[in-house]
Order: sequence, then structure tokens, then C-alpha cells
Amino acid sequence: MDVKLLDWLACPECGEGLTLTAPLPAGAGEVDEGRLACGGCPAEYPIRAGIPRFAGDQERDFENFAYEWRRWGQVQIDRLAGHRLSEGRLFAETGWAREWFAGKLVMDVGCGAGRFADVAVGLGAEVIALDISGAVDACRVNLAPWGNKVHCIQASLFALPLKKDIADGAFSLGVIQHTPVPERAVASIIAHLKPGGRLAVNFYERNWWPLLQPIKYALRLFTPRLKPARLLALCRALVAALFPISRALGGIRKVRLLNVMLPICAVHDPALTRDQQYAWTLLDTFDWYGPKYELRQSHRRLGTLLRELAMSDVRTRPGVIQATKPSAR
Ligand SMILES: C[S@@+](CC[C@H](N)C(=O)[O-])C[C@H]1O[C@@H](n2cnc3c(N)ncnc32)[C@H](O)[C@@H]1O
Ligand SMILES: [Zn+2]
Repeated sequence: MDVKLLDWLACPECGEGLTLTAPLPAGAGEVDEGRLACGGCPAEYPIRAGIPRFAGDQERDFENFAYEWRRWGQVQIDRLAGHRLSEGRLFAETGWAREWFAGKLVMDVGCGAGRFADVAVGLGAEVIALDISGAVDACRVNLAPWGNKVHCIQASLFALPLKKDIADGAFSLGVIQHTPVPERAVASIIAHLKPGGRLAVNFYERNWWPLLQPIKYALRLFTPRLKPARLLALCRALVAALFPISRALGGIRKVRLLNVMLPICAVHDPALTRDQQYAWTLLDTFDWYGPKYELRQSHRRLGTLLRELAMSDVRTRPGVIQATKPSAR
């Protein structure tokens, strides 16, 4: 943890600032192991392996995500895997221009292994990458080359250990549907945007799609309770059996729609090699079956919520909401 992060950290219990319990030697800017004490209440939080930890034992409910991102941490990171798919998706979901990122403080909420944080910092932003699970350790390793331009935090987005009104932008991609109260997740993030700060959230849209995926949803009745190694064995078997079929179907126009009905999350992007497509499919299939919650959201309902929260420039489309926090509130 870089000591600069102390400027932005706040106690998730009472909102007061945090200090290191033992002072650092002069000139040292990085803390690998230590404790943070709250100035306003008795709470203390550990720093372990360079990451301040606020999730407590909640992280136990997110073992599958920790396993997923530690195992496939590099597959989707453009810089490490030699593609630009994460960059393309970041621009598509946020609507923010490439030039906007330079010099901004941006939050990546539910960062996973850090694929979008990596793009944002590469474009000149300083990034707070936050996740409730041990995925954040994979993120720290992956983004280490960026030094103190990336700040990893393990915490729940429902109790963000950050001061209010600090960030120029916040994005949360593929996260809120995996929380028990997605609408509250959106409100929680907004509190930390500066006036004029931008928000972009991407989620699974509530639609008729699940009707085409009865096997997926039948399996999901028990898969979130499987231990990660067992879940991986199941996903491996499904992908081994179905990836060749889905790849063959994917090459035939119109027929490729049948892929939706297969109980794997097939990825056949031509920017990826066959082996990359296979790894990505296995990762995304695990990502389908592991999460406890999959609460699909309506973009219209979330758009209304943003307006109720007095956000401006609200734009929505299936699976995406974007807005700006007004300057005068
Ligand atoms: C499907 S992954 C997406 C990761 C990343 N945004 C991406 O697209 O690569 C969802 C992530 O959200 C995190 N997550 C779930 N609930 C959370 C919460 N309450 N607070 C913070 N992170 C959470 C999980 O640990 C997981 O890493
Ligand atoms: Zn406190």
C-alpha cells in the first residue's frame, strides 16, 4: 500500500480518516504489513501483502471469485495476453473518451484481476482498484508494473473505505448482479464521486435470455455451493464436450444463435487464438456457475434510480447505465 492512499481512505464504520498504527521509517512510501487505526472509533484494519483489508470474514462467501481470478488472472488483461478486448469493452461500457483518463482519479469497483484498471492506468489515470474477494491479490500482481498509480483495496462496495466526493470517475463492470442488493450498490458508489464525476455500470440485463438457457439455470441451483476445485472439474467437462460444437456453430451465420442454448459461456472472438478462446470460455463458464447471486437488472429501472439520486446526463441501454454527478448539489 502506498501511503498516498491514506489521503483517500476513510473508516467504513464511521467515515473518519485512518492512520498507520506504527509510523514508517523516513522516506518509505510502501507498507506491506501493518495496521490502520480509525481516528473516530475503535476500529482497526489490517494491511496484508501490501493491501489494506476491510472485508473481514465476508471474503469467505467469495471464494469462487478469488479462485477464478487467481487461476486465470492474466487471460483477459490486454497488456499480458496480447489483445485489446478489455480496452474496447471499457470504452464501450463507460462511453469515456481515451483522452479523458489522463490525470483523473478513477475507481474500479469489483476489479477482479484488474483488466479494466490496467487499461485506465495505461491511459494516464490513477486507479483505486477494489474488490471484496482475494481477486484483489491477483490484481495487485498483474498491475505491479504501474507502481503507485494503482491502489488495491479489499473491501465491500457496500461499505467503501473511502472519503466522499474524491473520484473523477467510477466504473463497475460485471459486478452488481452478483451482489444481494444491486440498486444499493449503485448508490454506494455515487457517494464517492466528486461533483462532476462520471459513473458507468454494466450488468446482466433482465430479459428473456434465461428462458433459452434452462440447463445453465438448472445447474446454477447447486453450482454456487460447490468448492472451487469441484466446480472447475464440472466446467472443464462441460467445456471439453461443448467447446468444439460451439466453435463449429459459431462459424455458421444464423445457426450461431443456437450457441446461446449451450450451457457454456462460449467465446469465439476472432481477435483471440483458439487456445485463448478455450481459456476464456473456461473462465467465463466458471464465472457463470460460481457466483451466489445472479440478479439481473432492468436498465430502465436503474436509469430511474439514477434520476432519483439526482444524477445528471443519465444514459441507459440494456446492460449499461452511465451518468454524471451534478456540480452543484
Ligand atoms: C464477474 S467478476 C468481474 C470482475 C471485473 N470487473 C471484470 O469484469 O473482469 C465480479 C467481481 O465482483 C466482485 N464483487 C462481488 N461482490 C462484491 C462486493 N460486494 N464488493 C466488492 N466486490 C464485489 C467479485 O469478487 C468479483 O471479482
Ligand atoms: Zn471509525
